[in-house]
Amino acid sequence: MSPHHSLRRAGLLIPAIAAAACARAPTYMSTDGFAADREATLGWTLTWISIVVVVVVGVLILVGTFRRRARGDEIARSQPDRSIRWILIGGIIIPAIVLTFSFVYTTVTLSAVSSPDRKPTLTVEVVGHRWWWEARYLKGDSTVITANEIHIPVGQPVRVELASYDVIHSFWVPKLAGKTDVIPGQRNVTWLEADRPGVYRGQCTEYCGPQHGNMALYVVADPPDQFARWYAGQLQPAAPPKDSVSAEGESVFERQACAGCHTIRGTPAGGKVGPDLTHIASRSTIAAGTLVNTRGNLAGWIANAQGIKPGAAMPTMHLNPGDLQVLVNYLETLK
Ligand code: CUA
Repeated sequence: MSPHHSLRRAGLLIPAIAAAACARAPTYMSTDGFAADREATLGWTLTWISIVVVVVVGVLILVGTFRRRARGDEIARSQPDRSIRWILIGGIIIPAIVLTFSFVYTTVTLSAVSSPDRKPTLTVEVVGHRWWWEARYLKGDSTVITANEIHIPVGQPVRVELASYDVIHSFWVPKLAGKTDVIPGQRNVTWLEADRPGVYRGQCTEYCGPQHGNMALYVVADPPDQFARWYAGQLQPAAPPKDSVSAEGESVFERQACAGCHTIRGTPAGGKVGPDLTHIASRSTIAAGTLVNTRGNLAGWIANAQGIKPGAAMPTMHLNPGDLQVLVNYLETLK
């Protein structure tokens, strides 16, 4: 990927995600993926059945109430057979038909969406951490590790293997697929497929501690050639600093213990606790969707992570302003 291309891409992607982040919460009632489409149709169908049942029962109760008042219970006394027939039809047969239909339709849908109709082209391991998402591409020697932003090729099923580093989380990208729990010591499997290119916001949906609400992720569905370029770019180790300011930033990164928690491939930094930062500048947000990845936000995050996301594992770094500036300079070169 040429630097020019990646710059232009980041330029387009960051506003798209910023807009998505500010827009209303993603809705599962309007969808863009095979599994979510069928689940949404099921949801709407069951909702309409429920509405019709409530309206019919409500109307019958009102009719019954007023007829009884007008005519007493003469009908029931004079025509017991008719009453029993209505109890049979209205109380047993019709509910049985409605409930059986709902049950069978739900079962058929859940079975249809449980696995894709084609073999997935790609497997991504997604690891829930308090409070961010690690994404490892299980392809080749699994070098590509990123955080909070999962690129997938559009129109192709992608297998997602879920693991947790600490507590129970739940993985949910509402416009693409239903929720799947992320459980320590267990490997749950789900899959994603996007019908059209776009940025799909996801969210942890199992309470996992005070920053549960700030545990978002983005699935970026790219046309296949664009995905291949993204993947090739992520495979590269970090480019060595090109100027003395960035080189100074790299040494601050190592001196200030950042390297104890974060990996930057191609440098001695190999920490495994926090997100892999090899290509942090190619990502659109930081802190699991909490902040748009701008120079100012990055500096603010390093200088005051605990003020922004109290309880997160990222400590507030007490850097002098000069060190902070060169550090941010360096991180911004990690496209
Ligand atoms: Cu992770 Cu809620």
